[in-house]
Amino acid sequence: MDETTPSSPAPAIIHTVGDPGSRKRLTPPAAVHYPGTGLFDHIARVVCLADCMPRKELFEAWETARRTRRRLHGGRVVDMAAGHGLLAFMMLLIDDTSPCAIAVDIRKPAMHDKLAAAFVAEWPHLAGRVTFIEGRLETVELFPTDVVVSAHACGHLTDHILDMAIAARAAVSVLPCCHVTYAHHPLVSWMAPDLCVDVDRAHRLMAAGYEVRAQLIPEAVTPKNRLLIGSPTKKPPQHPRHARGRWAAPPPLK
Ligand SMILES: C[S@@+](CC[C@H](N)C(=O)[O-])C[C@H]1O[C@@H](n2cnc3c(N)ncnc32)[C@H](O)[C@@H]1O
Repeated sequence: MDETTPSSPAPAIIHTVGDPGSRKRLTPPAAVHYPGTGLFDHIARVVCLADCMPRKELFEAWETARRTRRRLHGGRVVDMAAGHGLLAFMMLLIDDTSPCAIAVDIRKPAMHDKLAAAFVAEWPHLAGRVTFIEGRLETVELFPTDVVVSAHACGHLTDHILDMAIAARAAVSVLPCCHVTYAHHPLVSWMAPDLCVDVDRAHRLMAAGYEVRAQLIPEAVTPKNRLLIGSPTKKPPQHPRHARGRWAAPPPLK
């Protein structure tokens, strides 16, 4: 089966050469650690040869993209606070149902051009399909057909991304980091303050009529590993009080 066939879920990472959470740069000699025929190893070899990226970023983008692509297909991919933009490339490679992707960041890192050249050289069908937009993500217009993704948009940036996706009724997948926490959050004696923030985010999506999937990427890759995936449904937005869904609905009183 073709390695980009959407119906074949991307396999879990099965090898453990090196610490997947390492910030050490992947260099060309490290390519020998990724000898497999699967798409992950293929991408890893290309990233190693591009000689520009920490190992952690490779694994983070892969773990985020493959989980997101199990749920969200088609549409333009919008990688917000993209940094290097690897997530945008992986979204297209794992599931080639999207015509194009944009990677948006206030600052374009030098490694983006290196990565883009390496990916297009290896997968010529990607040529011209990933565009880097250097600018503030708030200025990007979103559409209901978009698939918005973001890995580690710091603090409130993740909330802005969720707000923008909700306003456009676009599908969204975020891996939050650098939580701005509230010592007086009403649930703080039940759960960690950063978890309160992400629970509120999930609830906000549900209240807006989204179907939500809460997932984890491996903690060995990053401790900021909560992945929040939301697909818009046809249900009208609800008041948060009514948004608990079938999971929390109590059985009828006897
Ligand atoms: C922690 S980095 C994450 C980068 C990348 N997604 C990753 O996974 O490595 C956060 C990024 O947000 C970008 N950023 C901060 N404020 C932004 C804004 N208003 N619009 C677009 N990008 C922004 C920064 O330039 C930085 O690249």
